[in-house]
Amino acid sequence: MNFVLTEEQLMIRNAARDFAQNELKPGVIERDTHMTHPTEQVKMMGELGFMGMMTSPEYGGSGMDTISYVLAMEEISKIDNSASVIVSVQNSLVEYGIEAYGSEETKKKYLPSLASGETIGAFCLSEPEAGSDATSQRTTAIDKGDYYLLNGTKNWITNGKKAGTYVVIAQTDIEKGHKGINALVVEAAWDGVSTGVKEDKLGIRSSDTSSVMFSDVKVPKENRLGPEGFGFKYAMKTLDGGRIGIAAQALGCAEGAYELALAYSHERQTFGKPINKHQAIAFKLADMQTKIEAARMLVYRAAWLKDQGMDYATAAAMAKLYASEVAMEITVEAVQVHGGYGFVKEYHVERLMRDAKITQIYEGTSEIQRMVVSRSAIKGKPYLPIEAEMETA
Ligand code: CAA
Repeated sequence: MNFVLTEEQLMIRNAARDFAQNELKPGVIERDTHMTHPTEQVKMMGELGFMGMMTSPEYGGSGMDTISYVLAMEEISKIDNSASVIVSVQNSLVEYGIEAYGSEETKKKYLPSLASGETIGAFCLSEPEAGSDATSQRTTAIDKGDYYLLNGTKNWITNGKKAGTYVVIAQTDIEKGHKGINALVVEAAWDGVSTGVKEDKLGIRSSDTSSVMFSDVKVPKENRLGPEGFGFKYAMKTLDGGRIGIAAQALGCAEGAYELALAYSHERQTFGKPINKHQAIAFKLADMQTKIEAARMLVYRAAWLKDQGMDYATAAAMAKLYASEVAMEITVEAVQVHGGYGFVKEYHVERLMRDAKITQIYEGTSEIQRMVVSRSAIKGKPYLPIEAEMETA
C-alpha cells in the first residue's frame, strides 16, 4: 500500500476541505437544530463531482478511485455528517450497484442524473423486522410476467423523502430464502410509492430519514439489478463498499472533533497555563491522535484493496468496526477536553458526538461487523496474507 497520495487525490481532498469549510460549516448548527435538509449544498456537491465520484465518466460520473472517495468523505464528515451520509449512500449503495449489476439501458437511464446530483438515490433494505437479519425481508416483489408487483414498508431509509430513485430489496420467492430476493430500481414518482414522516433523530439530524411504502407498485423486469434471485448478494456486495464510506465518515467525524479539541487546548488556560500543558489533557490528545491514525490505516487499506480489485469485504468490516468505535470514543473525549463549552452547540463537538453514534449502527451495527470478521476467520479464510498483497502491489 502506497502511503503517498497522488496529486489528483490531494486536489480532491483540498476541494472537499474547502467546500466543507466554506459551504457546509456556516449553516451546520442551524440545519442540525431545525432538521433542515442541505438541499443547496447537495446541489453544489453534484457540481463538484462528489455525487458520482466512482461512477464511470461514460455514465456521467467522475471516475475516481476509492481512496479519493474516502478522502472526500473524511473532509465533509469533519464538518457535516448529514451531508456526508448523502454522499455515501449515493455513491456506494446506489450508483456503484447500478453500474456493477444493472443492464446497459438501466445504467444509461438512471446513472447520469444520479452522478450529477440532480436526482438523489436511496437504498431500501431495512424493514421494521429486518435490520441486521437482512434475509428476513417481508417486502414482496411478486413475479407477474413482465413486471414485479412490489408491496411492503422500508424503515429508516436515508434520503427517504428526497430521493427520486430507490434501489429496493424485496422477496420474490420465500421458499428460496436469500436466493429468492431481488434488487429493483424504483422511481419515487411511480403510482403506489409513498413516504412516512421525517424521523427526529439524535444525530445526522438534517439528513432525511423516513420510511418508504410500496403499495402495488409495478416494477418493469428490466429494472432488476443482476440475475433473478441476486438481490441479497447485491445488498451484501454494495454494503461492502458502503462500509468503507461509513468508515471514512467515522474517521472524519473523529478527526473533526480532535482538531477542535486540539485548537481549544491551546486557547483555554487553567492554573496559569494552556490546558495542553497539563499532562491529563496532553495524554488524552496523544491517545486520540494515535487511535485516529490506526483507524486511518484500516480505512485507507480497505479502499486500497478495493482499488486493486482484491477481496475487501473483511477489510471493510474491520475498518467500519474500528473507525466507528474510535469516532464515538474520540468525540466523547473532545467534549470532555472542552469542559462546559463542549456541552453547548456553538462549539460543534457535541454535534459530532451525537453524529458519531450512527456510524456504529447503520450499514451494519458493530455486532454485524464482528460477525463478518469472525466468520471469515472461523471459515479458515485468512485475512489477506501479506504475500498476496505484495504480489499484487
Ligand atoms: N459478498 C458476497 N456474498 C456474500 C457476502 C458478501 N459480502 N456476504 C454474504 N454473502 C453471501 C453468502 O456467500 C451466501 O451465499 P451462498 O448461500 O450462495 O453461499 C449468502 O450471501 C448468505 O450469506 P450468509 O449465510 O452469511 O447470510 P446471513 O443471513 O447469515 O447474513 C450478515 C449475513 C452479514 C449478517 C448480513 O445479513 C448483514 O450484513 N446484515 C446487516 C445488514 C445491514 O448492513 N443493513 C444496513 C442497512 S443499509 C443502511 O444502513 C443504509 C443507510 O441508510 C446508510
